[in-house]
Order: sequence, then C-alpha cells, then structure tokens
Amino acid sequence: MSTIIYYFTGTGNSLKIAKDLAGNLKDTKIIQICKRTVEAFEDTRSDKIGFVFPVYFRGLPHLVRRFIENMPINRDTYYFAVANYGGYPAISFKQISNILDSRGGRLSAAFGIPMPGNMWFMYYPHPKQDFIDRINDQPKETYKIATAILNRTEVEIEDIINYSAEEAIYNSFKPNDMDKYFWTEKNCNGCGICAKNCPTDNIKIVKCRPIWQHKCEYCLACIHWCPQHAIEYKRDSVNKERYHHPDIKIHELSR
Ligand SMILES: Cc1cc2nc3c(=O)[nH]c(=O)nc-3n(C[C@H](O)[C@H](O)[C@H](O)COP(=O)(O)O)c2cc1C
Ligand code: SF4
Ligand code: SF4
Repeated sequence: MSTIIYYFTGTGNSLKIAKDLAGNLKDTKIIQICKRTVEAFEDTRSDKIGFVFPVYFRGLPHLVRRFIENMPINRDTYYFAVANYGGYPAISFKQISNILDSRGGRLSAAFGIPMPGNMWFMYYPHPKQDFIDRINDQPKETYKIATAILNRTEVEIEDIINYSAEEAIYNSFKPNDMDKYFWTEKNCNGCGICAKNCPTDNIKIVKCRPIWQHKCEYCLACIHWCPQHAIEYKRDSVNKERYHHPDIKIHELSR
C-alpha cells in the first residue's frame, strides 16, 4: 500500500529524513510543504500519510500547521509524524494530534530524531562531534522508524510536563516579518538562489539584491544556503558558520 510523506525543510535535515524514509518504505511519494502545496493539495489519499518537519519554538512550523489544518482528512489513514530538532519535539506532536482529532482523523504514531540545530543563537557554538554523531545516527534511526511504519505500529505521544510554558514560547514566535532584520553583505552577486529556494516565495531580487516580502517562515534556508555567505540576521549571524545537511544538494530544495 502506498505512502505519502509531506516534509518541510530549511537546511535539509527534514528532506534527508523524508528521502531515507521513502527509500526504506518503497512505493512512497515525498511532497514538499511550501507556498504552492499549501495553496493546492496535490494528493491526499493514501493508506499511510506522514509529516516530517523541524521543531520551531517548541512546536510546528506555521506552514506545517496550516497545511495540516487545511488538508482533506481520511478517517482510516495511518497518520504518522517525524519531528527533528536540536533539543526535543516539545508540543509539536500534540499539536498535530489535536488538529487531526478535531478533523475526524487520528495521529497513530509519533517519532523524533535529534539533528544538528540550525539556529545560531540557540545552538552555536555547537560541538562538532555532536553534529557528526547526529548526522551519522539518523539513517539508523530512520530505518527503525520505517519498520514501525510498515507494521502500522501505534506509538503514543509522551506527556509534556510543562505544556503551557512551552506553548507560551510557541505563541511568541511570529515569523512573518522577522525577515526585516535580514541584510546582505557587499559580496552578494545577485545570483537569485535565495529567492529560488525560499519555500514561501518571500524573496524578490531587485537590482541584483534580495528584498524580503514579510511572509517569512523563518526557516533560515536563505541565510544558510547562500553560496556567498552574504546574508546576515541582525549582528547575530556575523562571523558564524552556516549549516546545511551535507548530503542534500542545493537544487533539491526547490523541488
Ligand atoms: C526558527 C527556528 C526555531 C527552532 N526552534 C527549535 C526548538 O524550539 N527546539 C528544537 O529542538 N530545535 C529548534 N530548532 C532547530 C531545528 O528544529 C533543527 O535544526 C532542525 O533539524 C532543522 O531542520 P531542517 O534542516 O529540515 O530545516 C529551531 C530552528 C529554527 C530555524
Ligand atoms: S543567494 Fe546570496 S549571493 Fe545569491 S542573491 Fe541571494 S544573497 Fe545574493
Ligand atoms: S525568507 Fe528566508 S527564512 Fe524566510 S521563509 Fe524564505 S528562505 Fe526561509
């Protein structure tokens, strides 16, 4: 029976997990959650449907939440969630579970995979060995998750002890106009890669420079993938290393 995996990614960790899951599960389609797919659902009928996403401010990226809130739901589908994060999944599974419950579906299983944290002010400096260990462990973790999915294993969501404190952090995340703090160094060459890779089509190139349109999801794809390292966020990112998953190629981002 077929599987559909919807993924959202900024720096490629979620895409790597989605690709590996698809390789293990076979007969699986992976579809990016982005401006285009949020506006028009491509395919939502399947025996198993999964969501692969990074944790943002303790919960779901806003676009992922909107996507699940609006997608057609099938009562008999096995829905699963695979979160990846620098810390822990926090309230993200509960959020999906609540949305599906309210719409006649059910989250059957929730899995988590620690990955390199891509937010410099939360995770930098990040021990290099920890990055490497997480990248190396992910395929094994993904294989175990795929086996559980193939068997339609039910995996309960763990209770969050301080749910309301975590929810307060989530509610403080207002990404849309955080892009007003992005700026470009002189070495920006106007290549347009940042605009092409933005999942929300939030960047226009005007006079060879990116101009952000205040529909940002704060996925950090633009800043981490710029080949010139020319994008900065306030002074926070200056002289800090950029990160993207080593096995994901830049052209894979804009599927
Ligand atoms: C805006 C933002 C907020 C984040 N918040 C959290 C968080 O609350 N908890 C956590 O464990 N990781 C957090 N992270 C780290 C990401 O979840 C992690 O690096 C993830 O693997 C990135 O996946 P991607 O490469 O698919 O974008 C955050 C990252 C970003 C960009
Ligand atoms: S990807 Fe970097 S160099 Fe290319 S236009 Fe964007 S900011 Fe400039
Ligand atoms: S502008 Fe940058 S951070 Fe914002 S959604 Fe687009 S790629 Fe992500």
